[in-house]
Amino acid sequence: MGDLEDELRALLSDEDAEAEYPSEASALRRPEPIRLPLTKAEAACEIGEILAADDNGTHVAVARLASGALVVLADLCPHDGGLLSDGFVEGESVICARHGWEFEGRTGKCLSRSGVSVPCRALKLPHI
Ligand code: FES
Repeated sequence: MGDLEDELRALLSDEDAEAEYPSEASALRRPEPIRLPLTKAEAACEIGEILAADDNGTHVAVARLASGALVVLADLCPHDGGLLSDGFVEGESVICARHGWEFEGRTGKCLSRSGVSVPCRALKLPHI
């Protein structure tokens, strides 16, 4: 670390320094999201949306894919522990907000890394 960076850190309070230079650990210390019961999340989730939910004590992410399919994924990214419910829906995929890994919404298969997947189940599939 250079002298200038040391000086800047000294001028900032701890809180300011954390905001300026967030660490990986702080990203994992973020507040737990508000979780809807699974049935309420299922009813509330609109196309292109992903919500944090609780399925009888299990943290899940509920997503409505572009096709209208409603899917439930474990709310823990296998890459580095990000919450998939913090991510977003892109077409038929769920994207983790932390580093952008992409998961096939209907299967949980990771499209960014071979051999990786996240537990997943389809709740409702659209009529085709
Ligand atoms: S935690 Fe890195 S992509 Fe999800």
